[in-house]
Amino acid sequence: MELKEKLDKIRQSFNEKIEKVENLEDLEKIRIEFFGKKSEVIEVAKNIKNFSESEKPLAGKYINELKNELLEIFENKKNNIDENKKDIQNDLFDISVSGKKFAIGNLHPITKVMREVVEIFERLGFGIAEGPDIESDYYNFTALNFPEEHPARDMQDTFFLDAFDKDNNKPFLLRTHTSPVQIRFMNEHSPPFQIISPGSVYRCDSDVSHSPMFHQVEGLAIGENITFANLKWVLIEFIHKMFGIDIKARFRPSFFPFTEPSVEVDMSCVICSGKGCRICKNTGWLEILGAGMVHTNVLNNVGYDIDKMQGFAFGMGIERIAMIKYQVNDIRLFFENDIRFLKQF
Ligand code: DAH
Repeated sequence: MELKEKLDKIRQSFNEKIEKVENLEDLEKIRIEFFGKKSEVIEVAKNIKNFSESEKPLAGKYINELKNELLEIFENKKNNIDENKKDIQNDLFDISVSGKKFAIGNLHPITKVMREVVEIFERLGFGIAEGPDIESDYYNFTALNFPEEHPARDMQDTFFLDAFDKDNNKPFLLRTHTSPVQIRFMNEHSPPFQIISPGSVYRCDSDVSHSPMFHQVEGLAIGENITFANLKWVLIEFIHKMFGIDIKARFRPSFFPFTEPSVEVDMSCVICSGKGCRICKNTGWLEILGAGMVHTNVLNNVGYDIDKMQGFAFGMGIERIAMIKYQVNDIRLFFENDIRFLKQF
């Protein structure tokens, strides 16, 4: 039958074309070509009226079967085309893959405490001065009134460097404290001034409360009328701002070569409020810094008129403050870089 051949041709042409289709745009062309008003199938259907009455039903059946068959293939193809997927694969970028989460870091507890300490003194009107980590014996010891035979100069405490300082006839060293910045600053400035000096310091020492590298903040205030009362006010103010208004301070006589008189400052234990506990070794007090009135020898070393100028100095260890604040009992935890520890702050 001529009709059957025609329908087979249409079927063949349809199958060839739809197999090549990869996107919805091309599929639409197929729809128009094979199911549109001017399509061949419609043409053939229109011709049914020319068939004899006996042939008409069979012709109609063939045409309908073809139509249904092509429609089914068409719908399947449509479902199979996932436009997005195809385009994304071509771009080698799959927006449907869920994203990687980047862990958000946090400041190191020592950085946090250092910033807090610095900010408290800045608010009290202190400027910031800095000095080098590699120092000469002169700035680290001699100018600060350390006697030649002072034990702090010992190999056991100080990291001496291979580099030799010809001016001092001694090796350079890693500064053991931030106090040499006092000398450097006073050499360059005239009083009155009040500064703090934050930075890293180094000592050949390592156990639960000592680290070969740690941090200090030094303080220095020089002027004509600066007294021990000013020192007391500043340090008590600092303790209250850092640890709370209820914390008490205690000034104990002590010794440092560069201050006279010298004190060590304790604060009432933050854990037991002074009743006595394991942290404060049952004393009720925690030692947090050293201080004093700047020694006249030091003022002389920088050429100040000791009849006019006087002042106070103090120095504190940041790790010590952080250990008290966060109740950390081993200083080494700060430097082991264990993310489980560092994430807690
Ligand atoms: N430099 C001292 C140390 O490292 C700390 C210190 C104590 C600094 C008393 C001072 C001070 O300025 O007056 O242990």
